[in-house]
Amino acid sequence: MIDIHTHILPGVDDGAKTNDESLKMLEDLHKDGVTDVFLTPHIGRLRGFGASRDIYVQKLHYLREAAASRSLDINLHLGAEIDYSPDFVAEIDTYVTMNDTKTLLVDFTVHAEDIEDALYEAKLRGYTLIIAHPERTTQLSLETLMTLKRQGALIQTTASSHLGIGERRVRRRALKLLSLGLIDFIASDLHRPLSGLPLMRACRARIMKKTTPSTTNALFEDNARRLLLEKP
Ligand SMILES: [Fe+2]
Repeated sequence: MIDIHTHILPGVDDGAKTNDESLKMLEDLHKDGVTDVFLTPHIGRLRGFGASRDIYVQKLHYLREAAASRSLDINLHLGAEIDYSPDFVAEIDTYVTMNDTKTLLVDFTVHAEDIEDALYEAKLRGYTLIIAHPERTTQLSLETLMTLKRQGALIQTTASSHLGIGERRVRRRALKLLSLGLIDFIASDLHRPLSGLPLMRACRARIMKKTTPSTTNALFEDNARRLLLEKP
């Protein structure tokens, strides 16, 4: 599986705090059946998240070496989870993208005004937006999500939402998105070690019962593979 949304990069947001915690999370995901991980720290001035790209790259290189020295066979890719804000379009060329493609993972939970205009502008500049876990974003109605999808946005839901960990309405919304065929990726959005619990594997088994094998493969691997093959 390919996990496109994690907070494993240490000391840069509300995810992993130390290198050891990061490595534990990578070990957990590897055991859970994940071969490729996108490290997607929160970037958002309103919440006080964000560091320079050099810092992210430095930490990425450290984790790659540390994982290799522990014979941990997992591929790491840099990305980011951008908080949507009124400055989104003006700042779009400065953001860390997914694996240096023109795809951005965007969180609309902090701010969700004028999204259709922003998506249009982003598209004009060659960007594709992945909407992070809209099942948790009450500001985004189902109708808005369907419009955004028609306009070319992609949708990522979180594994724990499908497993019913947390609020019931979030699970219902995730199920609805699945049944309407609106989801492109299912990711962990991991902030802490899994402590031996299966997450992606358990979610994949759950999704397999609700849809076809080819759709399941698309959600957990094939669609994300395109981000690894796409050239900027
Ligand atoms: Fe996240």
